[in-house]
Amino acid sequence: MNDRKQHWENVYATKKLEEVSWFEPTPKISLEFLNKFNVPKDAKIIDVGGGDSLLVDNLIELGYTDVSVLDISETAINRAKQRLGEKAGMVTWIIADASQFKPVEMYDFWHDRAAFHFLTDENDVKNYIDNISKYIKPNGVFVIGTFSDKGPKKCSGIEIKQYTEQALLNILYKYFDKVECKEVEHITPFNTTQSFIFCSYKHR
Ligand SMILES: C[S@@+](CC[C@H](N)C(=O)[O-])C[C@H]1O[C@@H](n2cnc3c(N)ncnc32)[C@H](O)[C@@H]1O
Repeated sequence: MNDRKQHWENVYATKKLEEVSWFEPTPKISLEFLNKFNVPKDAKIIDVGGGDSLLVDNLIELGYTDVSVLDISETAINRAKQRLGEKAGMVTWIIADASQFKPVEMYDFWHDRAAFHFLTDENDVKNYIDNISKYIKPNGVFVIGTFSDKGPKKCSGIEIKQYTEQALLNILYKYFDKVECKEVEHITPFNTTQSFIFCSYKHR
């Protein structure tokens, strides 16, 4: 097992759902973006680095029928499956490193909250963005939430890369048109705040 995977398996083996800084009882911002784009219920949706986030529960509850959750940590995926019980069978679960992942289908809506910023190696970033550009359908939507330049410099003890709206655009403009960016203050379960930037893009 490589260090990156080991790190995340360890996090999910030792911390409960509400004990991690990124926990949100309702993924409000992500759901707002989904709503704004009027994503149809049969759209192919993927949540990359979804961990055991409650986004998938909300999507199922809203009637979405084709949701995939990808994470590097099998422990995280197993936790989400367990929580969902029978409903876990409605979801495609993928255990993979986002920078190495080889998708086998095209997606209408690609979501990444707080996973992309852990890719600190330029080649990993390039591979991931290349994948997104190849496996989002034309007119498909990419929503990303990362730490902003006012956000933390580390998360769960490891280095992250901060982004501004312009820095994200610099790596995405070749394939995507920006729709909206906004800064969001995430309140952690420990009552501290973390500055995120959330942006949405349409694939050309
Ligand atoms: C800060 S958590 C965010 C989890 C979830 N997106 C949320 O908003 O609650 C980061 C997640 O990304 C996953 N992750 C980190 N690096 C990854 C990689 N290279 N490929 C896939 N998943 C990764 C971790 O296992 C973890 O679940």
